[in-house]
Amino acid sequence: MRILSVVGARPNFVKVAPIARALAARPDRFEHRLVHTGQHYDGRMSDAFFADLNLPDPDYHLGVGSGSHAHQTAAVMLGLEPVLEAVAPDVVLVVGDVNSTLAAALTAKKLGIAVAHVEAGLRSGDMTMPEEINRRCVDAISDILFTTDRLADENLARENPPGRIVRVGNVMIDTLLDQLPAASGLDMPTRLGLPAKGYGVLTLHRPANVENRDILADLLDAVRAGADGLPVVFPIHPRTRGRIEAFGLADRLSDDPHGPGLFATEPLGYREFLGLIHGARVVMTDSGGLQEETTVLGVPCVTLRETTERPITVLEGGNRIAGVAPLAVRAAIAEALDRRAEPRRPALWDGHAAQRIADVFCELYPS
Ligand code: UD1
Repeated sequence: MRILSVVGARPNFVKVAPIARALAARPDRFEHRLVHTGQHYDGRMSDAFFADLNLPDPDYHLGVGSGSHAHQTAAVMLGLEPVLEAVAPDVVLVVGDVNSTLAAALTAKKLGIAVAHVEAGLRSGDMTMPEEINRRCVDAISDILFTTDRLADENLARENPPGRIVRVGNVMIDTLLDQLPAASGLDMPTRLGLPAKGYGVLTLHRPANVENRDILADLLDAVRAGADGLPVVFPIHPRTRGRIEAFGLADRLSDDPHGPGLFATEPLGYREFLGLIHGARVVMTDSGGLQEETTVLGVPCVTLRETTERPITVLEGGNRIAGVAPLAVRAAIAEALDRRAEPRRPALWDGHAAQRIADVFCELYPS
């Protein structure tokens, strides 16, 4: 069985790594090809992840880079079409909800190639999010829908997409459990001169949060105030770094890791970042994946968005959806600092999701 996986952005690399390994472990059954669209291209957003995750070099690199949504999506489609025609895979596998995911699913489906979507069925209900549009479109045309949790199954059951739904668990957590010993070994708190559980971590990259000066300034101020003297480490996405500079907000950042401000760093590699959040007392973020990772690590998470597509992390983990209003953000951080979260693993978040995906492919495509 020939499977071609398409990845483009940082969270995609984390999700495809265990799948690539599970497929490589059965060379008698699988031939796996990897395409990198080039949506993320900075060394710290891409190469560092391939190295940390022991991902094989991509067989094809499309080099699409940044651009408007239409430009990026179209560039992936144009680059991928000849690759799919040449490789003629049985299945194109896509992960997550980024523009590369949508572009690859559309291109494959229109060439008559089966599409498998890993992390299907997540819904925020917010159609102003590009990722929500991507998720709904990809699920509507996928042949196999691999889900992470029961709530995703319920969402798909309501929408009734024609694809086959199989709950396999969470491949992002496969990677986390695999990498945690190495990440802990880095001892990130000590490297930063911070006491374990004596600092917070902030990440921000959603357009809704970082493209508007007032919202971004309010968020930075509310996080700093909410942390109430606790040092906050802030590895900054290149888009956010650009906006902070353009909006004249660089004075909100600090270069002292021990002080009460927002200590700015470049984006970190996978292991460094995992080590950092594992040692944190609280994580404040607008990321999707971090809500899941903090659930498993037992680190309280304050989500700086009005909605989540991952409500299981609120129901079964220590995640709070704070919104972005300053007072609400400050209150949610205070609450998170007040309570401890326990490590929690929703059903099938056990490190074996990728193995289940390989098993499903073996069943559906008998040799
Ligand atoms: C993308 C995904 C988002 C995911 C995030 C993880 C979409 C619609 N969004 O958002 O779901 O959570 O990746 O990081 O696909 N940039 C660089 N270097 C890079 C990559 C980006 O400088 O290597 C800058 C560019 O200015 C670019 C901007 O970041 O225009 C946004 O990058 P893009 O890939 O469009 O979206 P992300 O915000 O990274």
